Amino acid sequence: MFQIVPYLSSDFPALIEFVEAIQEHERTGVPDLKPGSEIGLLYAGMLVQQVSSHEGYILMARAGSRSIGFVCAWKDVDDDALLREDMRSHALISDIFVAEDWRRRGVAAGLLAAIETAERGSTQIRVCAKATNRLAIDCYNRAGYRPYEVIFSEPLLK
Ligand SMILES: CC(C)(COP(=O)(O)OP(=O)(O)OC[C@H]1O[C@@H](n2cnc3c(N)ncnc32)[C@H](O)[C@@H]1OP(=O)(O)O)[C@@H](O)C(=O)NCCC(=O)NCCS
Repeated sequence: MFQIVPYLSSDFPALIEFVEAIQEHERTGVPDLKPGSEIGLLYAGMLVQQVSSHEGYILMARAGSRSIGFVCAWKDVDDDALLREDMRSHALISDIFVAEDWRRRGVAAGLLAAIETAERGSTQIRVCAKATNRLAIDCYNRAGYRPYEVIFSEPLLK
């Protein structure tokens, strides 16, 4: 059994560990990404700062006293001037992570459901994934999310 609880400042070391693990996972599909150890402290600090300045929150998943995952989200506005005004503001999920030994037990689904409950007043929730991140894409699809915009890239330095 796990619980979903609000982030406490004492969770910061776990947050660093988790964002480094996400980065290492995504680096297996995108080798151009920096190593997790290079981004952990700075990126985790940026999440905490974004959450406080953009009406956001971090939710932790805990099994007993152990932190086994988290999700982070804040309010964002799409700067696409071609999009209808009423569809531009949304909740943005920046990151979600579940410890390997807790995967496929519904923890991410629980974290996403908690975000949906918290965001009842919003028109939509968005989340990005690298195209190679199958775990994340399967998880979001399963939760009912559908692709909105796709970035194509062709490397020119060969
Ligand atoms: C993506 C991630 C958060 C999913 O966490 P999880 O707790 O294992 O997900 P859930 O157990 O809630 O699974 C939800 C659904 O996602 C899909 N899914 C999750 N892992 C899968 C896998 N290994 N293979 C196929 N489908 C998978 C399934 O449809 C699953 O539902 P089901 O088990 O009923 O079939 C986790 O794999 C993770 O932390 N990955 C590394 C970090 C990452 O990539 N984060 C996202 C980028 S920010």
